[in-house]
Amino acid sequence: MHTIVSGIRPTGNLHVGNYFGAVINFLKLQNEEKCYFFIADWHSLTTAPHPSDIIANDYTILAEYLACGLDPEKCTIYMQSDVHQTLELYLYLNMLAYMGELERTTTFKDKVRLQPDNVNAGLLTYPTLMAADILQHRAWGVPVGKDQEQNMEMARIYAKRFNSTYGVDFFPLPKSLASNGDSAVKIPGLDGSGKMGKSEGNALYLRDDEKTIRKKVMKAVTDAGPQEPHSEMPEVIRNLFTFLEIVSDKETNDFYRAAWDDCSIRYGDLKKQIAEDLNAFIAPIRERIEEYSSDRAYLERVATAGAERARESAEATLREIRSIVGFPPYRG
Ligand code: TYM
Repeated sequence: MHTIVSGIRPTGNLHVGNYFGAVINFLKLQNEEKCYFFIADWHSLTTAPHPSDIIANDYTILAEYLACGLDPEKCTIYMQSDVHQTLELYLYLNMLAYMGELERTTTFKDKVRLQPDNVNAGLLTYPTLMAADILQHRAWGVPVGKDQEQNMEMARIYAKRFNSTYGVDFFPLPKSLASNGDSAVKIPGLDGSGKMGKSEGNALYLRDDEKTIRKKVMKAVTDAGPQEPHSEMPEVIRNLFTFLEIVSDKETNDFYRAAWDDCSIRYGDLKKQIAEDLNAFIAPIRERIEEYSSDRAYLERVATAGAERARESAEATLREIRSIVGFPPYRG
């Protein structure tokens, strides 16, 4: 059995991009492997949430994880901030991380552009904290979407550098696991921008009600329509078809593909179809989110049991790491 780790930052509600880029794969893997799925609340500090929002945000994602079908009997679900061992490994990895490579990551460069007045060291070392999340469980695989590829490459670099610095074969090199076979998934935005995301302001949330979903989908950017049969699809239209692929059945997909090919396609109908199928998919999840959110005692039990299991796993790894790095077992 392989060890699998992944996390999501609690910066709001889960959106369709999180679901089809990552969570859908969590659901499959929890039946097959030893899985640790966490809520990356330390990572969310880079966007400076108000202290009073942190716990609420953690519980929001926990309820949404459970509503999507993560099963605490099958996988370990925990809050990142409950496992203090991560921070010790973060320190060791920071000693192996070069300034140049951290400064060159695209996520860092993006953040510097977005928040030039707060370019803190936590932002710079975001990838080493992420590597610590993964390596503390000596994970073999990490289910993530396409936007995490560079961070995953860094995690492999640090695993390799640790092994070679200390002459050990301790960390496996963690693989990115795509929900879509080999190629990492990117769920687009419907506003013509590259990806769906909270900070892009274009997300369809699992908590959105039917009307909101319909409104957002009907506003999706389109073009003038195909001018000749079998035209190549521009990106904005391909994006709409991506949604059709993830939520609609084969017959519906075939119908709209054929309509594109023979130029009879009506974007209004296509959008209505996508909105309807997205709503059918989201409705039961939304209901379960309400149920789990109202049972704080249960969420607390899940988080506590998860924290204990995650700490046990990280503690075992850290004991060995201390010895490899040259420290004695903890005194006292
Ligand atoms: P975060 O919180 O930005 O996103 C969580 C997961 O959702 C995926 N995702 C998408 N996939 C496809 N299309 C999209 N439009 C889309 N938007 C988001 C992301 O790829 C991700 O898998 N750094 C991580 C959190 C993290 C982590 C880790 C992940 C911290 N430590 C260790 C794995 C292992 C992040 O910010 O994800």
